[in-house]
Amino acid sequence: MSDDYEIRRFMAVAKGEAGYPDAESWVKAVAFGFHDPTRTLEHVAKSLETYSVDQRIFTGAYQTRQVAPGSLPAEVPVATFGTLRKTLNIGFGRLLKTQLVTAVTVRTSHRRRGLLRRMMSEDLAMAKDDGVAMAALTASEGSIYGRFGYGVASFERTVKVDTTARFRLNHQAVGAVDIADPRVLLDLAPEVFERVHRLTPGSIGRQEWYRQLASGTLGRDGKEDPAVKVALHYGPGNTVDGYVSYKFLGWDTEPYTVEVVDLVAATNHAYLELWQFLAAIDLVERVTWAEAPVDDPLAWALADPRCIESADGRDMLWLRILDIQKALEARRYPVDGRLVLAVHDPLGLTTGTYALEVRAGEAAVVRLDAEEPADLTLDVSALSSIYLGAVCPVTLAAAGRIREHKQGAALQARGMFAVERATHCLTHF
Ligand SMILES: CC(C)(COP(=O)(O)OP(=O)(O)OC[C@H]1O[C@@H](n2cnc3c(N)ncnc32)[C@H](O)[C@@H]1OP(=O)(O)O)[C@@H](O)C(=O)NCCC(=O)NCCS
Repeated sequence: MSDDYEIRRFMAVAKGEAGYPDAESWVKAVAFGFHDPTRTLEHVAKSLETYSVDQRIFTGAYQTRQVAPGSLPAEVPVATFGTLRKTLNIGFGRLLKTQLVTAVTVRTSHRRRGLLRRMMSEDLAMAKDDGVAMAALTASEGSIYGRFGYGVASFERTVKVDTTARFRLNHQAVGAVDIADPRVLLDLAPEVFERVHRLTPGSIGRQEWYRQLASGTLGRDGKEDPAVKVALHYGPGNTVDGYVSYKFLGWDTEPYTVEVVDLVAATNHAYLELWQFLAAIDLVERVTWAEAPVDDPLAWALADPRCIESADGRDMLWLRILDIQKALEARRYPVDGRLVLAVHDPLGLTTGTYALEVRAGEAAVVRLDAEEPADLTLDVSALSSIYLGAVCPVTLAAAGRIREHKQGAALQARGMFAVERATHCLTHF
């Protein structure tokens, strides 16, 4: 197989810059892989403008032999794999540089020939060599990425909230909410998000496109979206500490519904008061949000928590530790203690036995001889899952994913890996 394909890597560029035709073919190939019907050349150009701001790296597999007559030319990649670097909030305000993997596609006629495996293995090894301790992705299917060492580390859900008279929050507003021109979010959204990012374990730094989505300047279909409305929350000193971007779904959708496009709140008050605002929109009976937290303060502030209907809790962020010593030492721990972890890694990047020693919340990680007795044996996927505190090691032990050699070690791990508040990742990539 290796002779049939060449793997090429290049930076995303905007229209008018050298290399644009290759970047354009690559984005079109991704759109094809995801059955995206709306990627006109204009949409591709707009996407590439944002991708170049993100400094994305495009990896493509190209055919080296003559292509079949009449089929797509050799310049169109048969497989794509995109990366960008952002930070991940790993609890207690700490941020860890993370390799984000996105746009993974393999053309149907070239699948199951090892192209994904090759691109993934090479990229993770290169990121590790470059000093990056963590990789992350969101998965279209649950069965693909465990084999590469990724584990589910956070969750989200879609909520439908009944905003009729039944909706009553046990909260006295302390700030104010007002409507704004959506375009103010081009500047404000990144500022407010940055505060949320520093407060929320599991949060990933956002790519350029988000401020355009929130302000309605670049919708998912590549066009400006005039339906997007924006409300800002003003906290102490009249500073904006939250916003919601939303749209009304029209008179044909019953019950009359508002859909949240983006809801970003940097304080507990801002979060509840933006919900109070949404529930107060006249003529609207339901508010939906596809990226709501699973562990949601809204449910506990409502007089009737059953106003929230939610049927689809699902995995969101998948993490993959690339360097155990760096990743574990980067975290802050709420509980001191010592744990010896015997880790298996299907790609061989992190296999080994490690002693995690925590004193006053700070960790020192020492690599031990493989024969040293371990408290827990697990693969890197399970360790990546428990890293953010959102997945319980005791549950993974019950599932056979973690083997406990010292009684109580999984519960001890649960306490040590806990974070200060519920994880939630508002960034899809
Ligand atoms: C998923 C996809 C990228 C796989 O690419 P591929 O080149 O065929 O994968 P490879 O040949 O490298 O296979 C790697 C391994 O993953 C397995 N695998 C690949 N796709 C899988 C799937 N959808 N479900 C379960 N296992 C899968 C293969 O069996 C193989 O296993 P092994 O190496 O342990 O034997 C490709 O099918 C695709 O483009 N799908 C549509 C887009 C998509 O879903 N992308 C994922 C975005 S998150």
